[in-house]
Amino acid sequence: MSVETLSGVKATGPNVHGYRSFSLGEFTFSRDEYFVYVKWPTGSHLLSADAFLRALQRDIAWGFFYGIVNFDGVVGTVNHYGTVDLFAGRYNDAYRKAELDHVENFEMSRILETFKAILDDWTNATFDPFASPHETGTAFGPKNGDNRAAITRRRVTAKRMVSVPGDEALRSDANGHPINRQFLDVPQDEPEIRAEPGFEGRLCSFSLFAYLSRSPVTWNPSIVSACKNSLYCPTTEEYILPVIHGNDRVEWFVQLSDEIYWEVEDRDTGAVRAKVVMKAGDVAAMPADIRHQGYSPKRSMLLVWENADPRLPELISSGKLPTNPVDF
Ligand code: PHB
Ligand code: FE
Repeated sequence: MSVETLSGVKATGPNVHGYRSFSLGEFTFSRDEYFVYVKWPTGSHLLSADAFLRALQRDIAWGFFYGIVNFDGVVGTVNHYGTVDLFAGRYNDAYRKAELDHVENFEMSRILETFKAILDDWTNATFDPFASPHETGTAFGPKNGDNRAAITRRRVTAKRMVSVPGDEALRSDANGHPINRQFLDVPQDEPEIRAEPGFEGRLCSFSLFAYLSRSPVTWNPSIVSACKNSLYCPTTEEYILPVIHGNDRVEWFVQLSDEIYWEVEDRDTGAVRAKVVMKAGDVAAMPADIRHQGYSPKRSMLLVWENADPRLPELISSGKLPTNPVDF
């Protein structure tokens, strides 16, 4: 039986495990106690339910992010900033050669509503898709309640810089958030401001380390400063980045603490290109024609520096700008 809900999301009634199935265009999504099943006219695929929900949560929270969000080597989305492609096998050489790949384009609001409905129905009370595996309960088993408080968290976005009057980010992130178990050694003192005469009250500062030490989520960059299109998006990382990100622009990483291993692949075929180990203090520019996934053995702090200029994807894909920012 197909039920059409008010927002246009197509869903069936619960299966024997208690979960609804969803369809979007010619794609269908269903889950059981361990796995998520994705089907399209020329193929099908399954993913572990926990990994699927972690990826889905980020794709929703990031508004489909920059470029491609691969849930794994087969399914994912491409952001065209207004419309979104949902694909299977499109960025996988073997699926392409076997002609099993499939892509459909949707208005952003339509795919977003469907994704939100899936996340809401499939996230049990025990599971927080933003938390590290050590700090959340299980995603598995028959349907067991919901976790709306976790999946509808408001994202912290600074309009200017955190701590500048009028910015809400510090208030919403730091107050009431305990220091994470793995950042108990991070000093909590704030910088002291000694302004020159005439500049009193016009300078602001905050300790980014102290701020990040209280972040309750993992792999979720938050904007802490915006200067025109230059966005500083630091984040705390633990375990595996839940998506394989295929970028449409260059992205800079500054490893602020600890260590992350990056697997870097060709964006379009998935062929392995590099393995990068980033230690505290290391800086890397990820080229615009790769995809990457990070592994953080211990909770670490990473600054993701984004250029939000909307002209970049076209300038890079047309060859007017290079895919790497520096030639050595
Ligand atoms: C990225 O794809 O560049 C990315 C995404 C989320 C993070 C860190 C890096 O937390
Ligand atoms: Fe990225």
